[in-house]
Amino acid sequence: MQTKIRPITPESLAEAKNLIFNGGVVAIPTETVYGLGGNAFDDHAVKRIFEVKGRPNDNPLIAHIHTDYDLSKIVDYDPPCAKQLREAFLPGPLTLVYPSTNKVSPFVSCGLNTLAVRVPSHEGAQAFLREVDIPIVAPSANISKHVSPTSAKHVYDDFQGKIPLILDGGECVGGIESTVCDVTGDVPVILRPGLITKEMIAEVVGACEEYTPDFSSGEKVKSPGVLYKHYSPRCQTRLYSSESVEFAISAYLREREKGEKVAVLCEEKRMPDFEKLGARCLNLGKTEEEMATRLYALLREAETCCNVLIAVEPTAKGGVMTGVLNRLRKACASVDIPHKKV
Ligand code: TXA
Ligand code: MG
Repeated sequence: MQTKIRPITPESLAEAKNLIFNGGVVAIPTETVYGLGGNAFDDHAVKRIFEVKGRPNDNPLIAHIHTDYDLSKIVDYDPPCAKQLREAFLPGPLTLVYPSTNKVSPFVSCGLNTLAVRVPSHEGAQAFLREVDIPIVAPSANISKHVSPTSAKHVYDDFQGKIPLILDGGECVGGIESTVCDVTGDVPVILRPGLITKEMIAEVVGACEEYTPDFSSGEKVKSPGVLYKHYSPRCQTRLYSSESVEFAISAYLREREKGEKVAVLCEEKRMPDFEKLGARCLNLGKTEEEMATRLYALLREAETCCNVLIAVEPTAKGGVMTGVLNRLRKACASVDIPHKKV
């Protein structure tokens, strides 16, 4: 199969619509990362998404809708706090998990009685969602566990020959995936941190919690996708905390001594420590937004320029950095975290 990359025009949108209504998958831009989209009502299309990504079949998908789509077509109940959050943050990088059963293909939520819904703010994503006028399920458009894609080229690198069309909407400005927030209970619970932070949500609805899975209790995990080693570049990775830069420097020198091709991923202010050793540095930047925007492109660049990546966590914590650190730690995790009690 030939994989076309096309700018978003009336013609490419019509082509995308045709593919979607014939059960196909199409890669689409959003403001966070690119998604691999399919018709949420079509079992075959949803299964195809899991298959083409190599995604574990216990990891549910997010349904994407345009700003005027009637939410009641796909959710059972719209909690009051969800309305407040939509008014404050949507369209934008916030996914809300609603009570919902039997409204879309049963393969979307993998047996959970909830549905994650997102209204992306990216103009190209909105144009596409309006064109099809149905909910589109779209996981990040990367091979499962690989680094999420923030450009059409990244999608092409993972799915060349496997999908027919990539709609090119430029580079994603957000850079990390949407915040996933469960609104089925009394207090919203963040299942995956992102650009809409816990503090921002709490300010609108009064309170917000963060979900941390308890592996020891055998409890059914709320958002299986948060558990895997994930977002990982295809090179060895070693992660150091911002307080232990001297260990990162020793590791860098040791790896170089062994003859490895080494690169360093760190925030801009850390770079002189490594550059004076002649290290190749991948610059995360200065601000938290910059770090979110650049992270995935740099992890993909690491694959092409080194076989060992020494990563140093940025100094800032909290806010958007919670999401950035979450992705960086998962990218550098050495093993899958078991998601069932054994
Ligand atoms: O920014 C984004 O959210 C991107 C773009 C393409 O929109 N999409 C994305 O999808 O990151 P994906 O499939 O890579 O991640 C979806 C996350 C996973 O952690 C999954 O477990 C969680 O959302 N999720 C989906 N449906 C859920 C549900 N019903 N309950 C709890 N978690 C859910
Ligand atoms: Mg993903």
